[in-house]
Amino acid sequence: MSDSDSDAPIDPPTFPGLTTSSPQAPSISALAHHNDTFPGRMYHKIYGRYASDYGKTVSRGERKREGYISSTLTYGEVLFETFAELFRVVEERHGGLPEGGVFVDVGCGIGKPVFAAALLHNFRKCVGIEILEDLYKVCIECMKTYTNEVKPNLGEEKSSNLQFSFLNNDALEVDWSDADVVFMNSTCFTQSLMIDLSYACKNLKDGAFIITTTRRVIGPSFLLLEEIKMEESWGDATVYIQQRVQR
Ligand SMILES: C[S@@+](CC[C@H](N)C(=O)[O-])C[C@H]1O[C@@H](n2cnc3c(N)ncnc32)[C@H](O)[C@@H]1O
Repeated sequence: MSDSDSDAPIDPPTFPGLTTSSPQAPSISALAHHNDTFPGRMYHKIYGRYASDYGKTVSRGERKREGYISSTLTYGEVLFETFAELFRVVEERHGGLPEGGVFVDVGCGIGKPVFAAALLHNFRKCVGIEILEDLYKVCIECMKTYTNEVKPNLGEEKSSNLQFSFLNNDALEVDWSDADVVFMNSTCFTQSLMIDLSYACKNLKDGAFIITTTRRVIGPSFLLLEEIKMEESWGDATVYIQQRVQR
């Protein structure tokens, strides 16, 4: 997709082996009720100040200014409610999220999954990697809001055991092999990027979860645990929950 007026991937390209979207996959949007929880309220302290399309506007501004046309840079976001529901699915149906583990968002945009993950589970480190500089700068702005307005509410144990790291870089140039949970909102990632990311995911430890949208990581090292539909800023996406296994 080029830098069109709409960032909605209405007709994402399909690549044999990378996409197995099934219309019967159950949807988690209807179960959303997480905004009124403590993590939900803290999350909205960070993001409530921005318009819902702020990330898209910032991304589009940089792509236009710099002349970037790669479809891989197309912007879309998770919604807190459905992302929280996705975590609940992993927790209840797939043996649970690792305690004190590392969460990485590959292509983190303005950081929504990173802060959501940090608030929803007791990760020790939450990392966002974003190639576009303007989006990365918003993550740093959000980090300030977190430090000033959210962290003081979290309690000593959680706040002192939780680290964040935002990197303005190509995810293929960064080592994130220590991740226990990798999230990629990969609907618009190209086939070649997904192949490169699949190689990177081979370096993850056994048992690491890899959660992607629309396209999966490929190879015998990845076990597909579940396919589910999740509502996002641009509509429903198929989510793949996979796990790194020894093969
Ligand atoms: C669909 S957006 C997802 C944003 C965020 N993860 C979310 O779900 O709210 C995908 C992001 O990946 C970024 N991206 C694309 N290719 C990348 C790469 N090679 N390294 C790092 N970020 C990348 C894009 O700039 C975009 O912000």
